[in-house]
Amino acid sequence: MEVLQGQEALVEEILRLKEQRRAVLLAHNYQRDEVQELADFVGDSLELSRTAAALRAQVIVFCGVDFMAESAAILSPEKTVLLPELGATCPMAEMIRVSAPRKVWKTFPGYREQPRLIFPLEFTLRDIRAQYPRAPVVAYVNTTAEVKAASDVCCTSANVVKVVESLPEEEVICIPDRNLAAWAQRNTSKRIIAWDGFCHVHDRVSREDALQAKERHPGALLMAHPECRPEVLDVADHVTSTSGMLRFAKASSAREFIVGTEVGLLYRLRKENPEKVFHPLRKDMICPNMKKTTLKSVLLALRQMRHVIEVPQDVRQRAKVALDRMLQIR
Ligand code: 13P
Ligand code: SF4
Repeated sequence: MEVLQGQEALVEEILRLKEQRRAVLLAHNYQRDEVQELADFVGDSLELSRTAAALRAQVIVFCGVDFMAESAAILSPEKTVLLPELGATCPMAEMIRVSAPRKVWKTFPGYREQPRLIFPLEFTLRDIRAQYPRAPVVAYVNTTAEVKAASDVCCTSANVVKVVESLPEEEVICIPDRNLAAWAQRNTSKRIIAWDGFCHVHDRVSREDALQAKERHPGALLMAHPECRPEVLDVADHVTSTSGMLRFAKASSAREFIVGTEVGLLYRLRKENPEKVFHPLRKDMICPNMKKTTLKSVLLALRQMRHVIEVPQDVRQRAKVALDRMLQIR
């Protein structure tokens, strides 16, 4: 609880309100240390979706980014899902739209190496469907509710290959992350049709960065998230989701690891493996949106019951089909 020292009053008030509201705090593995420490459950996207669907609580405070809270609201319409910070979005989820023009991302903060304009406005999910009418659409959970509603099944970084393999078709559309799609392609004989989206936190890592980290820490195992580029995954010792990294580090006999994902994961890795050493692959692998949620914003969410995430009924029902299909795949 070291990380909560000096914040006793805030913590006490959150715990009191949590009890009063009969609320559960869910936090993604990238959240700030103190938010993770206070959460009832911390996990990767798949674990958080499963937990949200199974919870009996009336109120879920979702400490993560908007698509995660949206998934919880889709899966549990009878619960009140709160997102403490409305601005906590995932830029990758904005990179594909069903039919309307999407935002054109010219560059991202901290994404200076390759500023570029990737997404031609004329393409939408509807276009790709029209071009490949027989191919089912696998939507990464890092998408909007509308995109999930227009897809066949969802996936996370933990189960993308299983989801693709579960489909009878030989040709499958994977949206929106080109790197996750490339990772799926390496692990299936099916033909993957990819979208050009990416996560600015993971995509900024180069093969050179990975090789230099290995040189700095000889003997350390490199764990990489499938949102990293294929050339980074080429030199990784293990490729997996955030919680997959926690399991791998715990089970491995190695003592030292390089962590190829957002730096928030280091908190749990170090806490759960005090005898092991963890180095970030790059210190600037920071997702600004994941860091927006603070203890203060959790407190305000509970006090004011703000910001309630609601998904329109027709979108919710169709998106739930895609999420449920994913959750049924074990
Ligand atoms: P995980 O599902 O592996 O936790 O990843 C979520 C995410 O947003 C990665 O950037
Ligand atoms: Fe989105 Fe990347 Fe942040 Fe994950 S780390 S929430 S994919 S921007």
